[in-house]
Amino acid sequence: MSEIKYGLDGKVALITGGSRGIGLGVAQAMAAEGANVVICGRKQQTLDEAAQAIDGQPLALACHIAKEDQVEAMFAAVVEKFGRLDILVNNVGMNLMSPQLADLDYGLWSKIIQSNLDGAFLCSRKAAAIMRGQNSGKIVSISSVAGRIATPAMTVYGVAKAAVEMLTKVLAAELAPHNVQVNAVAPAMVKTGFSAPFWGNDELRCKIEATIPLGRIAEVEDIVHPVLFLASQGARFITGQTIVVDGGATITQPL
Ligand SMILES: NC(=O)c1ccc[n+]([C@@H]2O[C@H](COP(=O)([O-])OP(=O)(O)OC[C@H]3O[C@@H](n4cnc5c(N)ncnc54)[C@H](OP(=O)(O)O)[C@@H]3O)[C@@H](O)[C@H]2O)c1
Repeated sequence: MSEIKYGLDGKVALITGGSRGIGLGVAQAMAAEGANVVICGRKQQTLDEAAQAIDGQPLALACHIAKEDQVEAMFAAVVEKFGRLDILVNNVGMNLMSPQLADLDYGLWSKIIQSNLDGAFLCSRKAAAIMRGQNSGKIVSISSVAGRIATPAMTVYGVAKAAVEMLTKVLAAELAPHNVQVNAVAPAMVKTGFSAPFWGNDELRCKIEATIPLGRIAEVEDIVHPVLFLASQGARFITGQTIVVDGGATITQPL
């Protein structure tokens, strides 16, 4: 990470899905700033391994983000250890290639909606109650440009991410009187395991890069900076917004 500072020293930050990819990058950057970091994921062993790559002594809690009892237990553990929560990053998300809606199985719909939307709701609800009580806090959710542009095979994922952006606006309006800012970041493709089948294929990567004015696919660090900015006091008068981080991909269209 380059040496930009965001002033997160001493903040308590929960990053969902912090065991790899964008979530791990955000957790590492926040911990390097001196934040007390909490990460979650479904597998304790993976979390413990990730924790070794994060400064300080991050709390690594196994939690399936769409299971209400597990989310309740995770927030109880955070409050027990730190007594507060300053930052929530709703980072968990997944996509399974989906057929056209006319052919879509309801089970697949539910699975994608639950991981991307229900999880963000369950965590935001808990964070909102804590932050309202302390009269401060920041919530940052990771959306996707697929939530803004209908993308083949990412239809349900796109519906869920569009809803995450509306969740962001609703929460921002509700929590504004309590000095809590709620925003989102919408990346296009980022080089993580999630999207490796695309950028890992040379031919596909070239095709994708040709659609991006800045000429390359995002690295995790490209997403980490906007997330840290939105979680910082520098963003204190920004709320209900989604920053699109796509190298310009969605400002152009082919002739
Ligand atoms: N990579 C991209 O191209 C891209 C583009 C746009 C938006 N995004 C969004 O960015 C976010 C992060 O993506 P990424 O690429 O970093 O993903 P990733 O590399 O697949 O990492 C996902 C993280 O979430 C955890 N996770 C997954 N399902 C979970 C669940 N149900 N409960 C708890 N933890 C869960 C994973 O750990 P376990 O598997 O061990 O649970 C892992 O830590 C997602 O919201 C994604 O939609 C990604």
